[in-house]
Amino acid sequence: MSIENGDFAGGVAVITGAAAGIGEGLARRAGALGMKVVVADISGEGAEAVAQDLRDQGGEALAVRVDVSRPEELDRLAAEVHARFGDVRLLVNNAGIETLGLTWEIPAERWERTLDVNIHGVVHGVRAFAPRMLASGQPACIANLASVGSFGVMPTQTAYIMSKHAIQSFSECLYLEIQMTGKPIQVSTIVPGMVKTRIFEASAGAGEPEGAARHRAVMRDLMASYGMDLDAACRIIFDKLMTGVFWIDTQPDMTREMIDGRIAFLTQRAEPQLAPVARSILGLDN
Ligand SMILES: NC(=O)c1ccc[n+]([C@@H]2O[C@H](COP(=O)([O-])OP(=O)(O)OC[C@H]3O[C@@H](n4cnc5c(N)ncnc54)[C@H](O)[C@@H]3O)[C@@H](O)[C@H]2O)c1
Repeated sequence: MSIENGDFAGGVAVITGAAAGIGEGLARRAGALGMKVVVADISGEGAEAVAQDLRDQGGEALAVRVDVSRPEELDRLAAEVHARFGDVRLLVNNAGIETLGLTWEIPAERWERTLDVNIHGVVHGVRAFAPRMLASGQPACIANLASVGSFGVMPTQTAYIMSKHAIQSFSECLYLEIQMTGKPIQVSTIVPGMVKTRIFEASAGAGEPEGAARHRAVMRDLMASYGMDLDAACRIIFDKLMTGVFWIDTQPDMTREMIDGRIAFLTQRAEPQLAPVARSILGLDN
């Protein structure tokens, strides 16, 4: 199923985690296309700033404070958006957090928070919005944020990596479930490589074990040096979304390399092995 440009223009876009980073970039692309944009984020202030900016540019935008780790808040968001704007054309389950540290050193609260935001936030976003999207019979798109990390492994990023593996398989199953309904809803997996955002900022690491700070700083610096420009990445994501494809990646070479590595690992039933670049990120060669 293909969502054409014209199908998006004038429609309603709901984007979680839209006060910053990739979510904000996608909200701005949606606004530029003339969509009505619901900027949903745990930071109500941040969401309002983005929504106000979109309104200042002549668009229609609504900020809603939502913690995606709470299913009832997503239910409330879906009901509010439907009552105010009607059918939703585009849902992007984008909100996500990174957690660094050794599995046994990460406090239980941080573990649960990571899985609740990254996995349950996406699952319950779909559960809250899909019934009305299906009932409307209108073309629509649901896109979930996976990662190139969905196809690899990285010690001390275990919580994040397993959550992204989960979202990739969730989106594949969801695609087939929607296909079973015969309704015109496109499901897409968004697979960013490394994109310049604030996901590795020190302040986002509250609750991580002490040892994680060095790794977080290395990742932040790597992102600043090698990450893709945020606006460029969001243009690629949005353009691909409008072609109605399942796979939406920002850096196809990186995706291919990760998937090829995964296929080789599984085919050979190999022992898990650290790539040289991962050894250096973790400071194991010092
Ligand atoms: N930046 C990258 O290189 C990259 C790569 C692969 C995947 N991703 C994925 O893209 C998504 C966005 O990441 P980003 O890099 O833009 O991060 P970011 O930290 O820059 O922005 C994340 C946004 O989500 C919001 N948020 C966090 N917890 C929330 C919650 N419980 N409820 C609602 N909103 C919440 C934050 O307030 C923030 O506005 C994530 O799912 C991430 O895993 C990012």
